[in-house]
Amino acid sequence: MTAQPNWVTEDVDTEKPSIARLYDYLLGGKHHLEVDRELGRKAIRAAPGLVLLIRANRKFLRRAVRYLVGQGVDQFLDIGSGIPARGSVHETAWASDPKARVAYVDIDPVAVRHGQEILAGDDRAVSVLGDFFEPERILGDPEIGKVIDFGRPVAVLVLNLIHFFPDTKVRPALAAYRERLVPGSHLALSVATDDTSDALAIDSLYQEEYTEFTLRSRAQIDALLDGFEPVEPGMVYPPLWRPDDPERVTENPERYSSVVGLARKP
Ligand SMILES: C[S@@+](CC[C@H](N)C(=O)[O-])C[C@H]1O[C@@H](n2cnc3c(N)ncnc32)[C@H](O)[C@@H]1O
Repeated sequence: MTAQPNWVTEDVDTEKPSIARLYDYLLGGKHHLEVDRELGRKAIRAAPGLVLLIRANRKFLRRAVRYLVGQGVDQFLDIGSGIPARGSVHETAWASDPKARVAYVDIDPVAVRHGQEILAGDDRAVSVLGDFFEPERILGDPEIGKVIDFGRPVAVLVLNLIHFFPDTKVRPALAAYRERLVPGSHLALSVATDDTSDALAIDSLYQEEYTEFTLRSRAQIDALLDGFEPVEPGMVYPPLWRPDDPERVTENPERYSSVVGLARKP
């Protein structure tokens, strides 16, 4: 039997792929097992644009955080944050505002522990185990409360999480976060669309082998922002969201199988 890496503790299910570890594999990270890599290879075969999409999504995350810091937002709650990768929220925010506060929340213990390791000793950021669908717990979590003051604007990032769940679960959860956020808070979303062959291929692969998946039309995605005001240019393909250099967006943006955007609580 091959020895498991030292981050595989008792609470890690080594028999089934995990979303966090699969994503880490696709991003070129180090926290994945053969079961994750096997699914990752199938996903890349089924959807050849997947790795490009994931990288474009990470670039969006960085542009969105820089935009938010520019708007004076200095608190970030990243839910379904994943296993920390280069260019995470805290690195990007601190590059422009070293006083910014960041709370990472994930349901996967590998993601949370790795976050705790890299943030150890820094009182500006925490990494906490939590479930997006338990908003009251997250908003009342004492660890999160050490860094985030919900009496001031917060940017809530929910990137590449929502398409694993149906609207019946997602919309009440988003409404609960929106209720509690003060005006000037923001919501960042990245959501799979139903209009590319890559998205359809991932949908059937995941449903067959792995987990629930929900593809949404553009209208269904826009409806997720109910109660928020979209920040220009709204929900768009990742390279089109406030590109650093608009002249250089030359690839066909519509081949990306998700849309991204920001919205503000009025
Ligand atoms: C596809 S990854 C996206 C990671 C990161 N947000 C990004 O876009 O780079 C989705 C993450 O959501 C986490 N997740 C899945 N269900 C969750 C839930 N109910 N609550 C919190 N996190 C969850 C997974 O463990 C995984 O780390």
